[in-house]
Amino acid sequence: MALIKKEVVDQIIQQADIVEVVGDFVDLKKKGQNMWACCPFHHEKSPSFSVAPKKGIYKCFGCGKAGNSVQFIMDVEGTSYVEALRYLAKKYSIDIEEDQSPAAVQAQNERDSLYILSDFAKKYFVNALHKNDEGQSIGMPYFKQRGLSAATIQKFELGYSLDSWDDFTKAALEKGYQLKYLEETGLTIVKQEESKQYDRFRGRVMFPIHNVSGRTIGFGARTLKSNDKKSPKYVNSPESRIYHKSDVLYGMFQAKQAIRQEDECFLVEGYLDVLSLHQGGIENVVASSGTSLTENQIKLIGRYTKNITVLYDGDPAGIKASLRGIDLILEGGLNVNVVLFPDGDDPDSYIRKVGDTAFREYLKAHSQDFISFKSELFAKEAKDNPVKKAEAIREMVVSIAKIPDAIKRSVFLKQCSIQFGIDEQVLISEYNKIHLSEQKASRNQPPQPTSYGSSFDEMAAEAEAAAAAEAAMYEEEDQQEADQTSVLKLREREVIRWVLNYADKEVDEGLTASQFILSELEDIEFRTPIYKRLFEMCKLKLEQGFVPSASEFMQHEDKEIRHEVIDLVSEKYEISDGWATHEIFVPHESDLIVYGTEREVLRLKWRNVQLMIKNHMNELPNIHNDQELDKCLRTIKTLKELEKQIADMLGIVVS
Ligand code: CTP
Ligand code: MN
Repeated sequence: MALIKKEVVDQIIQQADIVEVVGDFVDLKKKGQNMWACCPFHHEKSPSFSVAPKKGIYKCFGCGKAGNSVQFIMDVEGTSYVEALRYLAKKYSIDIEEDQSPAAVQAQNERDSLYILSDFAKKYFVNALHKNDEGQSIGMPYFKQRGLSAATIQKFELGYSLDSWDDFTKAALEKGYQLKYLEETGLTIVKQEESKQYDRFRGRVMFPIHNVSGRTIGFGARTLKSNDKKSPKYVNSPESRIYHKSDVLYGMFQAKQAIRQEDECFLVEGYLDVLSLHQGGIENVVASSGTSLTENQIKLIGRYTKNITVLYDGDPAGIKASLRGIDLILEGGLNVNVVLFPDGDDPDSYIRKVGDTAFREYLKAHSQDFISFKSELFAKEAKDNPVKKAEAIREMVVSIAKIPDAIKRSVFLKQCSIQFGIDEQVLISEYNKIHLSEQKASRNQPPQPTSYGSSFDEMAAEAEAAAAAEAAMYEEEDQQEADQTSVLKLREREVIRWVLNYADKEVDEGLTASQFILSELEDIEFRTPIYKRLFEMCKLKLEQGFVPSASEFMQHEDKEIRHEVIDLVSEKYEISDGWATHEIFVPHESDLIVYGTEREVLRLKWRNVQLMIKNHMNELPNIHNDQELDKCLRTIKTLKELEKQIADMLGIVVS
């Protein structure tokens, strides 16, 4: 892979103005110091996507995406880092002087030749469809009969290959395209012995296959005969240096924007399924096109969304494909839903049968998560048959075991237990069995204990580990922060963060998180000026009968307040410090508002008490009056008791 020099990278980053780069994709409006737009990464009606020109960054307060110009291109185009740099270099006419070794140049040129040839072929087939008599009388009527509109035909650049031995090859050679490239792209089949060459695609309608940036890299070609046993229904381009089947999804170029907007990708099997759905207004759809789904294809979807809905045929083959797809998608860390169509129908035939509206309704009504899908599938067989039932449960847990994320796994185990009416413990031990045998199979290190378990011992162990993690966090704070004021600053910051992020969340009947935190900390004096100010601002809001609002504070005239609030709010998706690194089962903090607010309040109180103790201790040498000394010692004692009490509540062992 070619390397871009460090100086050039720096130059690109420096020149790529964030407003210009983002402005190519969304409509930015100035408001205050920043520019705002509706987020290109998630669906929204009012703008929460901001660009800070001075900082050179963008940040969406809705979905949390943030970064500089390079990151933006990576996010929006779904490219790699290097590809994003290339994009920007091109935009700003910066010479990237990549690896210029003759071999590298040659390889690049050859790939370019393959792209250029494929593009020529695509245009040739499009032209034949629209301008040639045979295309008009045979190709076009086929598309019409399949219900495709002129707009769809144009958008997907559909074409027609004439029913002739070498019409295309001749034309290409005449234009100066080299035979070796015609052969590598598979457009021409070369028979060495007979020194003959002829077109691979003859008398077929042509579906060009694009890569994500819209370049033609291959073709699918369908016969027009509905019942021809002699020749295959579809003929496809072979693998080449520009076409790797397992990395490509048909329709991705036309679908990616919609996938990102809808935050969902429909996965179908065939070219026609993509086209019919697209035409029906469902544009977030791609096809694996005959090959069974691959890991790389799932990764490709994962650049745009984490949610895949598989739309397959309801016949046994379709069900089998769905089952395989589900596990692969789960393994890739994505979420999967399934919709099956009545036996005999695929998405293409079904949408044409019932129309767009009914089709959408069908999707809504029949979309199932994989647990429901699998349980329904096996329920039929498993009914009244304990052996089958055990098998069904195992099947379910096998899928759950594929999920890389521990929190998600535990959620699904719970759902499965509810759905099947099976004790969760049974599922967990089944999971553990599968997990262990998989680890043995992959001959990893000795099996690790998993972080699951609801048996009493395991729960106790888990709680202990969590407490240890929390203690480690304080210890780390103590070590890192030489003076206690910075330790306190951290705690004050966290408290304000909770107030701002969960201001109006109820922690008790009629009591919001902000009300709770502020009333609990009434007597505490904040020591960090910025948090003291924010605390006062929140207090004032509450007293006036409003909810303290981060988005309002973000418009504050004082820059320091604005920045602080943006920082505090943009961290809200992180899991509480300390815990995540220990891989302990920690639900997302927003699921634990009550628990979290209580703890944050306690933590700040605890650190405050510690500071007070320290201050009193420091005072001792300066006291020369017995009565005063006695009083100070008693205060210290009371404070120490208080410290211990709070520590107990936090589950910390104080030495
Ligand atoms: N396919 C293929 N080669 C074949 C058969 C199928 O590459 N010999 C791929 C095509 O991408 C096709 C997909 O598998 O679109 C699904 O195949 P199938 O269900 O048989 O075809 P449909 O898409 O339903 O095609 P049509 O509606 O045109 O019959
Ligand atoms: Mn079909």
